[in-house]
Amino acid sequence: MDYSIETAPLEKLQCDCIVVGVYQDQQLSPSASLLNDTTQGLIGKVLQRGDIGGKNGETLLLNALMDSLTDRILLVGLGENKALSGKEYIKALTIAANSLKRPQIKFIVCCLAEIDVEGGDRQWKTRQIAEVFTDVAYQYTHTKSDKETESKLEKIGIAIPIAEQAQAQLGLNQGQAIAEGVSFAKWLADLPGNLCTPTFLAKQALDLGEKFADLSVSILDEADMETLGMGALLSVTRGSRQPAQLITLDYQGGEKNSKPIVLIGKGLTFDAGGISLKPGLGMDEMKYDMCGGAAVLATMQVAAQLALPLNIIGMIPASENLPDGNANKPGDIVTSLSGKTIEVLNTDAEGRLILCDTLTYAERYHPDVVIDLATLTGACLVALGRIPSGLLGNDDELCHELLAASETANDSLWRLPLWEEYQELLKSNFADMANIGGKDAGTITAACFLSRFAENFRWAHLDIAGTAWRTGQTKGATGRPVPLLSQYLLNRASQLSI
Ligand code: BES
Ligand code: MN
Ligand code: ZN
Repeated sequence: MDYSIETAPLEKLQCDCIVVGVYQDQQLSPSASLLNDTTQGLIGKVLQRGDIGGKNGETLLLNALMDSLTDRILLVGLGENKALSGKEYIKALTIAANSLKRPQIKFIVCCLAEIDVEGGDRQWKTRQIAEVFTDVAYQYTHTKSDKETESKLEKIGIAIPIAEQAQAQLGLNQGQAIAEGVSFAKWLADLPGNLCTPTFLAKQALDLGEKFADLSVSILDEADMETLGMGALLSVTRGSRQPAQLITLDYQGGEKNSKPIVLIGKGLTFDAGGISLKPGLGMDEMKYDMCGGAAVLATMQVAAQLALPLNIIGMIPASENLPDGNANKPGDIVTSLSGKTIEVLNTDAEGRLILCDTLTYAERYHPDVVIDLATLTGACLVALGRIPSGLLGNDDELCHELLAASETANDSLWRLPLWEEYQELLKSNFADMANIGGKDAGTITAACFLSRFAENFRWAHLDIAGTAWRTGQTKGATGRPVPLLSQYLLNRASQLSI
């Protein structure tokens, strides 16, 4: 998608459609009012007739305009005539973008950056426009013969008063980088497990390394993991014919000695459960078990594209989890890289096994903070549904920073307790710990397990099992939590300049 900031007067712009807002008291936004004047009061007339009430969620496309350089006007209902909340604003943008999925509409001008939003300045609004329009236009076609997409949008101009051009341009750059990151993560995750293998993910990382000078990539293969002693990670891949990969992306945008932010993403390219086999219904969705890894790749791309002045390490343990004569069996005991032994009571709790060795390995980068993201537990869906990702961590400040970033990015999080009392549930009679904690508090006990490998640094864990993809008719990846992580990094970068 091609975006630009448009500072020319609206009546001079030639495009397929101009997008303007109206409120439910029939009040027009400044641009709608201007267009109303240049179209002999057309918009006012349409509102009076009641064809659009102005509620948030409504749209009306006006066509065949007389004496106008623009062919159409899309009226977008904004709701009550007062500052919109961030969520209301994003809802209006999403509905507007969806209603522009028409073959004739290729070049539009969007005038919604002028709308008042609580706590949303011109930079934030411009950014959201880029994020939402790209998000809505995304359509997976990679393995379809028909590559036609519903949206034909090619060019989006964002109308901005000259005085605010610089701020808007900054927002647009960020928005485009994040939008491309989200699309990349969605594409990787939507690919099927037979194409998106651990080796494929490694290749994607290497390609990113080629593209950006300050991003270097290294891959550990199974022999390297063996030498290091990553017994937990290796135990998961034993049942698979695809070789596991531990992918590390090293972005050096910051001061030489500044400690890195480490992002770790679960890259399980297909999770059948192993010997503790999952039920068949919906098992296809376990191709999405690499969404954490995809989000790490995408966030590294965003950071490199925006040349953020930070040092960031991205790590992706990538493997399949399949049943096989050589696979992990319930009751098997494996020795992790940390030296701690683990009784594998359920082979379907494999995410924590590949993550725990990666957490231990992250220590050698002397991290400032470590954030892992994983489609880790079905229990997270039971507890929180598909709205927020679960957040757990051993450092209040880091958790608060993530919660703040999630608000700005409209990529929500909800913190769950990581209390000592829960640790008991992981007791094993035969090893230092079991890999499951029974049927209660599954998201918390999974995080408790990980916390035992994160004792030497500030750490937060995001359980994205409910948020990384949609199920049902609109089945598809969401690209979450790329917006949240990007916002966290942007916030960290801006703290440096204060
Ligand atoms: N990848 C799954 C978690 C998952 C399940 C994500 C459903 C999204 C939807 C993970 O590897 C898993 O299987 N977890 C088990 C843990 C259990 C055995 C303690 C689960 O949630 O059932
Ligand atoms: Mn599993
Ligand atoms: Zn899994």
